[in-house]
Amino acid sequence: MAQERGIRISNLCYSVDNRQILAEVSIFVEKGVNRTILGASGAGKTTILKLMLGLLQPCSGEILIDGVSLAGLSEAELIRVRRKLAIVFQGGALFDSMTVGENVGYRLFQDGELSESEIERIVLEKLGFIGLEDTIDYYPSQLSGGMKKRVAIARALASEPDYILFDEPTTGLDPVGVYNICHLMHQLQKEGKTTLMVTHDLATAFAVSEEFSFIHKARLIFDGTRDEMLISRLPAIREFLEPTDSSLFVAPKTPIGKDFHEAKR
Ligand SMILES: Nc1ncnc2c1ncn2[C@@H]1O[C@H](COP(=O)(O)OP(=O)(O)OP(=O)(O)O)[C@@H](O)[C@H]1O
Ligand SMILES: [Mg+2]
Repeated sequence: MAQERGIRISNLCYSVDNRQILAEVSIFVEKGVNRTILGASGAGKTTILKLMLGLLQPCSGEILIDGVSLAGLSEAELIRVRRKLAIVFQGGALFDSMTVGENVGYRLFQDGELSESEIERIVLEKLGFIGLEDTIDYYPSQLSGGMKKRVAIARALASEPDYILFDEPTTGLDPVGVYNICHLMHQLQKEGKTTLMVTHDLATAFAVSEEFSFIHKARLIFDGTRDEMLISRLPAIREFLEPTDSSLFVAPKTPIGKDFHEAKR
């Protein structure tokens, strides 16, 4: 049988202090099929990415990268398999004390396999890809939020991963910033990378992904295409797609929307 290509999580459970964060979640991110994991704040989305990267250990269930289970691998094998994945963390998570260039080349310096000049060539190439070559000697504090996110993408790309995991890449960005991130994700997809995004930003999700997984209260409640999601009758998905006054955590004194503005006059 041909080796499976993709990231598979199977019946994954994760708990902290007896509180179940994820319950039997199964998702297959097929190589070449770009996917978004949607869900409300606190649903467990970032936790899924951390489990995929091996940053957290599941209580039960299995994680397979290109058909290889992470369980039982030696440290050296784990490093080799994990190199296929890279993450752009929620907020970018750049090292403030390092320049942009040092941030982008960080993983390559750590690996210690390439010469300094080779690393510099790769850093410049990745910064060129995100359109920020000129910032190589800047510190993160000298960049805007959107620029930081793009540098975080360049850093993820430095080790040539097959799968790039994005945690809320557009949160807090203005429309131009969002457009730039979507454009970069499309470019990566054209280059044969597979993107997996976690977000509540529905517009970006629809712009860059073909498949969707929906997490609600620790469980996977939907897996399918955009069109399938749009016609879903599941209350949690309807609420997510079309929030109403009843979605508010406090009862509104006046109706929201057009009526609200009229009531204020
Ligand atoms: N280390 C931890 N210790 C205790 N609780 C945790 C820990 N990590 C996550 N949680 C809890 O697990 C749940 C899921 O967290 P997670 O960060 O995965 O949510 P999320 O879907 O990414 O949310 P957001 O959209 O706000 O980023 C939350 O209720 C959170 O409080
Ligand atoms: Mg999160």
